Amino acid sequence: SAYSQMAAELLAWYDRHARVLPWRVPPDGGKADPYRVWLSEVMLQQTTVAAVKEYFHRFTTRWPNVEALAAADDADVMAEWAGLGYYARARNLLKCARAVAAQGGFPKTRAKLQELPGIGPYTSAAIAAIAFDRPETVLDGNVERVMARIFDDHTPLPAAKPVLTDYAARLTPVQRPGDYAQAVMDLGATICTPRNPACGICPWRGPCAARASGTAPSLPRKTPK
Ligand code: ADE
Repeated sequence: SAYSQMAAELLAWYDRHARVLPWRVPPDGGKADPYRVWLSEVMLQQTTVAAVKEYFHRFTTRWPNVEALAAADDADVMAEWAGLGYYARARNLLKCARAVAAQGGFPKTRAKLQELPGIGPYTSAAIAAIAFDRPETVLDGNVERVMARIFDDHTPLPAAKPVLTDYAARLTPVQRPGDYAQAVMDLGATICTPRNPACGICPWRGPCAARASGTAPSLPRKTPK
């Protein structure tokens, strides 16, 4: 179908242009580690990729797995978190690590993941897709912008959220859903940027409805506050 063709084209682009990030699996080895996926996604919630890299390295060096983090002193974790902000996230991080360690590892479904402290709809979908290859749809600000443009949807956010979620779900492939989720995020971060999107080199320039009508830079629309 047209949608699976689009997913395949984006995955081919990702194979050539994926950003090299410490929590990503090297193409030739190893499996995605749910601990590293979870930790990176929690850190990335209100912090940029560039800022997270250093923190991620320090955390995983000091606490290489969820059992190690679960056994850490609260004060040590809070001290390593200093500078990332949103300290409630660090407290939930520890609560979550202890719950996961107590149950012998991360659950694999989105529903079970979402029962853990600090894991909401975004993080549960990201872990299920990236760490466990479940065809879950990951929706963040990047994905919303890409969807609004591909479908040239002028509904203002936040009212547009359900329809953008629906578009994103229709495009999510059964094969490589974790790579696909990260590919859409990379596309939004490097090509389908808020201003001056690089439509000329976009792997989705063919099917993009906003590119065809010249509306890409003005999407998504937002309801004025
Ligand atoms: N932003 C949040 N999670 C991400 C990921 N896994 N890859 C790239 N950007 C992200």
